[in-house]
Amino acid sequence: MDTPDLPRSVGVLGVGRFGGALARHARGAGLAVEVAGSADDPAAACACDVVILAIPLARYRALPAGLLRGALVVDAMNHWWEVDGARPEFDDPRTSTSETVQAFLRESRVVKAFGHASAWEVENLPHPAGHPDRRGIAIAGDDARDTAVVAALVDALGFDPVLAGPLAAGVAFEPGTEIFGSDATAAELREMLARFPESQRGRVVARARHGREGGAR
Ligand SMILES: NC(=O)c1ccc[n+]([C@@H]2O[C@H](COP(=O)([O-])OP(=O)(O)OC[C@H]3O[C@@H](n4cnc5c(N)ncnc54)[C@H](OP(=O)(O)O)[C@@H]3O)[C@@H](O)[C@H]2O)c1
Repeated sequence: MDTPDLPRSVGVLGVGRFGGALARHARGAGLAVEVAGSADDPAAACACDVVILAIPLARYRALPAGLLRGALVVDAMNHWWEVDGARPEFDDPRTSTSETVQAFLRESRVVKAFGHASAWEVENLPHPAGHPDRRGIAIAGDDARDTAVVAALVDALGFDPVLAGPLAAGVAFEPGTEIFGSDATAAELREMLARFPESQRGRVVARARHGREGGAR
């Protein structure tokens, strides 16, 4: 298969449940993978074609912004209350959590993906393209070339990429949304994305961002 967008190397920052699962699975899929935990030098991981962020979101300010300058960064992090605590900056409906990470990593190109899937799903539910049970992974990013690279990575890992729109659209697959943890196919994900503006969270987001409800009433 011709996959010109597929990254040759993948860095993973954070080697816990999720980062560990992603790294093992990416290696198994034949990709070159560099990982870095909190006590490691992150330089090699940050030099990879794509760098996946898999640390607790509340610690995003510890990310090596200098090493990530110019990098394509995949934000797989979520605001998880049990771990991160209540953090108003992550609940502000005007800003998706990935936009907050992008504002910190202002010289990187952040794309949101993978975070709505579980570590278990990533390792245990990949399927070849065309398989009826193949799950989808939603992708939000501002640059079409970057989202194409992330889509190729998602596909290589055994999932169907679903382009959801710009980085701000990632709010539709944060915790608490219908998509989060749904283990859905690509077709189901597209339906959920289309329904998001009419969900409770979707209406709150639309009011906060545009001063009006998002969905048809
Ligand atoms: N678990 C899932 O199924 C799942 C699914 C989707 C998304 N996520 C997201 O993935 C992220 C990680 O979740 P997790 O469940 O894997 O948590 P976890 O098991 O607690 O692992 C987090 C890892 O991040 C490391 N870390 C912390 N700060 C770091 C830094 N500055 N640089 C490098 N590594 C650092 C921690 O190392 P130390 O212990 O040494 O601090 C730890 O190994 C979270 O944002 C979560 O919302 C998780």
